[in-house]
Amino acid sequence: MQETVQTPAKKKVVLSAIQPSGTITLGNYLGAVRNWVKMQENEDYNCLYALADLHTITVRQDTATFRKNLYDAYASILACGIDTEKSPFFIQSHVPAHSQLAWILNCYTQYGELSRMTQFKDKSAKHADNINAGLFTYPVLMAGDILLYQADLVPIGADQKQHLELARDIATRFNGIYGNTFKVPEGFIPKNGARVMSLQNPTSKMSKSDENVNGCVLLTDSDDVIMKKFKRAVTDNDAKVFYGEGKHGINNLMSIYSAVTGLTFEQIEHDFDGKGYGDFKTAVGEAVIAELSPIRKRYEEFVKDKAYLAECYAKSDEFANRLAQRTIDKCMKKIGFIK
Ligand code: TYM
Repeated sequence: MQETVQTPAKKKVVLSAIQPSGTITLGNYLGAVRNWVKMQENEDYNCLYALADLHTITVRQDTATFRKNLYDAYASILACGIDTEKSPFFIQSHVPAHSQLAWILNCYTQYGELSRMTQFKDKSAKHADNINAGLFTYPVLMAGDILLYQADLVPIGADQKQHLELARDIATRFNGIYGNTFKVPEGFIPKNGARVMSLQNPTSKMSKSDENVNGCVLLTDSDDVIMKKFKRAVTDNDAKVFYGEGKHGINNLMSIYSAVTGLTFEQIEHDFDGKGYGDFKTAVGEAVIAELSPIRKRYEEFVKDKAYLAECYAKSDEFANRLAQRTIDKCMKKIGFIK
């Protein structure tokens, strides 16, 4: 009798990336990186992560600061729990296929599609003196990052949703012309923490470029600084902890608290019934400190060890280069390029 051989179910490919703007923010962590770590520990997934350094030069960088930020960001991601033995974490510019595929996909992306990207509009307004072509075609480079690895799932915060949809459109269009070439990816956006807002201006996204440093919590902030930032967080005059329309500051704090503790909004409202905003802000600060403090300690160790960081990215780069080459070869062959 013939033995039946069970083929294991194919693992899903997870890909995501982060820009090296120095150490990462609470928004990056809750919106994306925390899920990268969870997915790494799930045996249904093969995960691959990148430091998207080519994306970062769409905004002018000071050379020394940029170089330092690369190491800081790389060390931060390891500190969050990414283990390059399990999930290669490579550097985008070390894999030339990213630039190659970006050029090719530029020729399959419409000007109108890129003009509609809200991040392009926001960034053009912010950097009116440097609206370069790279800023405009940035989402195409990102589409290439994803499509090169035939990714099934892309864990991201809500602000990257529009870019992911464009990547799907480009893949579908290319496949429509040349036959199946790219996997059409799905986004993976968390229910809670997908859009962490500035603590000082809770109608805009928490970001390192926030003009007010108190708006943004960094992974490297000391416990005291984190607590101070939460105590100063902008709220309203209700003095009652509940999730409601127009209560941007409190809604944001509740979302952060819920993302970190796992409590629902109803539980939070119940637990803080009769207590003021002061108590609530302190509780959110304490919960965030408990989450970030161990990460900061690991970060401080990793960032000192450049040789170890280089070892991690060199192995990851090699792995990524091998995978990326397969897709770029396939894609170029379909178009008609000769070897
Ligand atoms: P970046 O570097 O701005 O952010 C990295 C990740 O963090 C998420 N994020 C947030 N989530 C919740 N609240 C916030 N305030 C917040 N700020 C940032 C982002 O959604 C993102 O998931 N273009 C991308 C990087 C990129 C990429 C890719 C992502 C390049 N290639 C391929 C996925 C796949 C960016 O600039 O993310």
